[in-house]
Amino acid sequence: MLSGRLPPLRNPSHGDQALDLSLRYNPSTYSLTFRKTIDMNASTALPRAATPPSPANIQLMQLTTACWASRCLHVVAELGVADALSDEPQAIDALAKVTGTHPQALYRVLRLLASLGIFECRNGTWNHTEASRFLRSDHPQSLRDYVRMLGLPVFWSAFEDLEHSLRTGDCAFAKRHPEGVFKYLTKHPKESGIFDSAMTSKSHRDIAAILPAYDFSQFVTIADIAGGRGHLLRAILKNSPRTQGILFDQPHVVAQVAPENGEKLVVVGGNFFTDSMPKADAYLLMNIIHDWPDAESIKILSAIRQAMPAHARVLIIEPVVPDAPGPHLSKELDIAMMVLPGGMERTREEYTSLAAKCALRLERMLETLSPYSVLEMVAT
Ligand SMILES: C[S@@+](CC[C@H](N)C(=O)[O-])C[C@H]1O[C@@H](n2cnc3c(N)ncnc32)[C@H](O)[C@@H]1O
Repeated sequence: MLSGRLPPLRNPSHGDQALDLSLRYNPSTYSLTFRKTIDMNASTALPRAATPPSPANIQLMQLTTACWASRCLHVVAELGVADALSDEPQAIDALAKVTGTHPQALYRVLRLLASLGIFECRNGTWNHTEASRFLRSDHPQSLRDYVRMLGLPVFWSAFEDLEHSLRTGDCAFAKRHPEGVFKYLTKHPKESGIFDSAMTSKSHRDIAAILPAYDFSQFVTIADIAGGRGHLLRAILKNSPRTQGILFDQPHVVAQVAPENGEKLVVVGGNFFTDSMPKADAYLLMNIIHDWPDAESIKILSAIRQAMPAHARVLIIEPVVPDAPGPHLSKELDIAMMVLPGGMERTREEYTSLAAKCALRLERMLETLSPYSVLEMVAT
């Protein structure tokens, strides 16, 4: 666990009273936690009877309003503000002109983001920070399309309907779009393009942690089932040049994917509910089973089980919900799965039971240096 300390905050409503925030980052859960200490002795002007702010009160208020900063981030990513800002500092008027925005409104949005370390204003001009550079389209680990995707009106409005999920147990997305996320995307090419690119975007950090955790090079053929544009499979093939890769996803998702620089990659467009699965020594399913409730998950895994040779492995790559009550990426993604595609994140026991319903057995669960685990399943 890494930790850092932020400069003490001064609470204007309590004179000079200091609020000391220690920031702790846990890479195995992708969580940042704050420890707050209020230094009552920091103030000479503090009236004796003043009640210090309760850290719990502050935490609750921060969480309640965090969506405002998220929303600013979505819009800034959509408008390409980070792309418009080069390495040279820029005045707000110039930045507003290039991005087609109102200078004062843009300034206010950037001021909030800068207070969180995203962009920086120095001597009246705007500069990048390490975090704002991830919003650039040309950053090798760009997060721009992932941020844009979550800000798309069709996805953002589904979170407005969260209560629908709580009342009914159904996915909130279907309240406005009964066909569900993936059929909706098939009919909306612009949003579909952002979604597919977002999948690559969100995967950079996870792939770096997954590759060293499992020996993918032992397989002659690996099929990445619903592998998007092939980011995970291609990273594996780079490390394992003798392996043949098969990328399987919906035809419109893989339409533009072709092998590059001698890559041993075959691209198959299909539907995992209706088409037969390819033959392979290993089947990757990253962030797929979490998209679906048990009934559909069983259909997907059973189709693979039917096609797979007896020695093959099924490798489900997901953030597995831990027993511990603390923060974990899986608990956040679980809500996104409930709201958007109607799926869920699962515990190890839930994966064990799912496997058993598809004539598979969970052989091992390998943790990685991220919240993702590799669940290795074999035929029973
Ligand atoms: C959450 S994305 C995950 C993509 C990739 N595995 C990753 O981890 O980045 C889900 C993928 O499932 C694919 N998918 C959804 N329904 C499908 C279907 N019926 N047949 C094949 N692929 C499907 C989508 O096109 C999308 O690429």
